[in-house]
Amino acid sequence: MERLQKVIAHAGVTSRRKAEDYIVAGRVAVNGKVVKELGTKVPEKATIEVDGIPIEREAPVFFLLYKPKKVISAVEDDKDRPVVTDYIDETEARIYPIGRLDYDTTGLLLLTNDGDFANSMMHPRSNINKTYIAKVKGKPSKDTLQRLSRGIKLDDGKTGPAKVSFKSGNKKNDTSIIELVISEGRNHQIKRMLEAVGHPVLKLKRERYAFLTLDGLDPGDFRSLKPVEVAKLREMAVT
Ligand code: URA
Repeated sequence: MERLQKVIAHAGVTSRRKAEDYIVAGRVAVNGKVVKELGTKVPEKATIEVDGIPIEREAPVFFLLYKPKKVISAVEDDKDRPVVTDYIDETEARIYPIGRLDYDTTGLLLLTNDGDFANSMMHPRSNINKTYIAKVKGKPSKDTLQRLSRGIKLDDGKTGPAKVSFKSGNKKNDTSIIELVISEGRNHQIKRMLEAVGHPVLKLKRERYAFLTLDGLDPGDFRSLKPVEVAKLREMAVT
């Protein structure tokens, strides 16, 4: 369920701010009944009228993008840097990224215009696994890898259990490749975890999101999710 003013704004009727004014003024009806309460949540199938005219709600769309580096995970940027939605050029829908990858992180990012879906994917209890490949400074010891997998104390609390594996090392450059599978999605989580154990991240890529991979895609490429993939993700998540 989404907030009424958001649904009206998403349908392109007016801004979210003005939609609030319309609601308070009694110009909005949900399933035939005037609703003046701001923040009222409306189910996906509700009929919403503004001044007696039904609004057309956007059909939900779902995309998987291979985010390149030097791209912001947002719909616009005040410094005019490229944003992830620039890459999805086959839809007019008001899509946005589900969560964030850092400016310099590459990899798998989902985008949608479906607020319920996005919220359920990001819900902390949804436990959706995300697989990252990190190039780090130095060579983490077995003990360090175990600490990472048990959870690391960060300034916003201890991280949950992670699956951590050493992939390869480069003695000459003093770097290593580490794979981490986490189900949380805190800000800069992987970088903070590795920094905390003395192995700062030099490069980061998200290779998998649940069962989804980047197979067949190059940086900047995208594809629509198949209905069966969307259904499977919904099943995995808390609603
Ligand atoms: N963790 C990070 O530190 N950065 C990302 O972009 C994603 C996960």
